[in-house]
Formats: sequence, C-alpha cells, structure tokens
Amino acid sequence: MTEPTILVLNGPNLNLLGVREPALYGSETLGDVEEACHERAGLLGLAVDFRQSNHEGQLIDWIQEARGSAAGIVINAGAYTHTSVAIHDALRSADLPVIEVHLSNVFKREPFRHHSYISDVAVGVICGFGTNSYVLAIEGLAAILDAAKEDA
Ligand code: DQA
Repeated sequence: MTEPTILVLNGPNLNLLGVREPALYGSETLGDVEEACHERAGLLGLAVDFRQSNHEGQLIDWIQEARGSAAGIVINAGAYTHTSVAIHDALRSADLPVIEVHLSNVFKREPFRHHSYISDVAVGVICGFGTNSYVLAIEGLAAILDAAKEDA
C-alpha cells in the first residue's frame, strides 16, 4: 500500500528562505524545511510532495491537481495569503483538509498581514514557530487523517 501524500505548498519569496530577512524568518533554507517535513511525515506513515512557486496561477493549478491525488494540503501562501481570493476559491473547491502555516507570527506584524483569505477554508492555522510551523502542521494533519480513518 502506498502512503497517503500531503501536498506542502509554498508561495512567493519562500525560495529565498535563509537569505531573506533572516532576523524574521530564520537562517534555515526551504531545503531544510522540506527535509524536516519529509522526516516527520515519514515517521507518521505519510509522504510529502513539497513545492514552491512565485506564481499565483501555478499554485492554483497544483491545488486543483491535489483533488483526487493528495490526502491533504499544508500551505504557506506567503503574501498571497493576504491578497488572493483565487487561492481561497481553489482551496475551497479542493475538498481536502487544509492547514495554513506561516513561519512568522503574522499577528505581531503589520496590520495588512492580519487578514488571511486562507484561514476560513483551513481546518487550522499555525504561525510563529519558524520551520517547526510546518512540522506541527503535518502532525495536525496526520491526526485529522487518522480520525477520518476511524470514522470511515
Ligand atoms: C509568511 C508571512 C507573510 O505575511 C509573508 O508575506 C511571507 C511569509 C510567513 O511564513 O511568515 O512571505 O507567510
């Protein structure tokens, strides 16, 4: 039996992790985040499909493809979190459990980061734990998938 796959999506500028504002986002790279995701998911019997794009349409294409192929989505949409009705609509239509993550605590930052178009289509939101936000999201999603299996 193949393991259920979690799609971990990263939006604009997250490819610059480790270089971009390290005081805010830390010194780990997106490669380090990916490794941490694979490691924790593996321990939980899940596979990870980890992707990053700076383009809104690409992220939407991947969300659409996840329907039917992924068991759930972990998404850090970067700045699109605060602007994208289109990503909101795609996630709403995906019919999958979604966890929103942010490296930084967006509520400690500028007011324009306090609104998210993703939170109301997500099961939960995790922010402020750096790389560990992703690991916590994978743990949360694993618990949701386990509970769904028990209900089935
Ligand atoms: C971010 C927070 C966003 O406000 C910002 O635009 C990002 C990164 C985070 O992970 O903390 O690009 O999503």
